[in-house]
Amino acid sequence: MEGKLAVIYFSPTHTSRTTALAVAEGMAELGAEALDIDLTKPEARADFSLELAEGDVAVIGYPVYAGRVPRVLAELLANVKGGGAAAVPVAVYGNRDFDDALVEMADLLDDAGFAVVAAGAFVGEHSFSRLVGTDRPDAADVEAAVAFGAAVAAKLGAGERSAPELRGNRPYTEYRADLPFTPATTDACTDCGVCAHVCPMAAIDPVDVRRVDERCISCCACVKACPEAAKTYADTPIDGMAHLLQENCAVRREPETFL
Ligand SMILES: Cc1cc2nc3c(=O)[nH]c(=O)nc-3n(C[C@H](O)[C@H](O)[C@H](O)COP(=O)(O)O)c2cc1C
Ligand code: SF4
Ligand code: SF4
Repeated sequence: MEGKLAVIYFSPTHTSRTTALAVAEGMAELGAEALDIDLTKPEARADFSLELAEGDVAVIGYPVYAGRVPRVLAELLANVKGGGAAAVPVAVYGNRDFDDALVEMADLLDDAGFAVVAAGAFVGEHSFSRLVGTDRPDAADVEAAVAFGAAVAAKLGAGERSAPELRGNRPYTEYRADLPFTPATTDACTDCGVCAHVCPMAAIDPVDVRRVDERCISCCACVKACPEAAKTYADTPIDGMAHLLQENCAVRREPETFL
């Protein structure tokens, strides 16, 4: 294949990244030049724009937030020109459900000038709890993602570009992911600065990591990355949500793909 394979992702706790890259790995037989476009950090999003063309393919990996596409990523797609390139949304959700996150992304990509040819919903460890979808994507998830990528490559190789029938509703469920909660910092903090470094919204003051501002999107990257377990959502409604998820979303869900 002459064109590019752009792997575009926003992935605060890395599960969407792992999954999108596995899908792209499965598409290796296309022989396309791969572009790794990580939009997680603010500096990568500043002045971001991308223009693709008809012979290109884009894999877009993202977490499901309250059944939707994270707003920060949805807004960035206004800076992308698909130019008729094929697109493959890869939604990663925390073992509850992906609701309308695939149809919303398909619509965003359609508006940006892409042809959506396939889509997949995969599972990642829940941002709010290590006990929901623990350690996913695991080996079986990665294998499924690679196999999905290979199936997409076969479809494209056969010259097929039909739009898949996706699961999800329009109008989409209301966007309820702008949660007004910021993580606290306990006395275990050693001021190592890791949390400020990983925050995708630059919401943590690198000079005083106890200060977290309203740009926080509750992605939990800081909570999961803190080597001292000092960044925490304990005693906030997010902790309550985590307990509800542990009770209600314990049964393992499997990847769903649409071709
Ligand atoms: C604000 C917020 C809302 C979320 N909403 C959902 C949801 O509606 N359904 C679900 O199954 N998981 C939900 N999750 C969990 C993430 O989709 C999941 O953990 C994903 O693997 C995180 O991706 P990342 O590792 O790329 O950040 C939510 C996470 C956050 C932070
Ligand atoms: S990562 Fe944890 S220990 Fe390091 S500065 Fe942040 S809160 Fe403190
Ligand atoms: S401060 Fe908020 S946005 Fe930043 S990493 Fe922590 S939870 Fe995510």
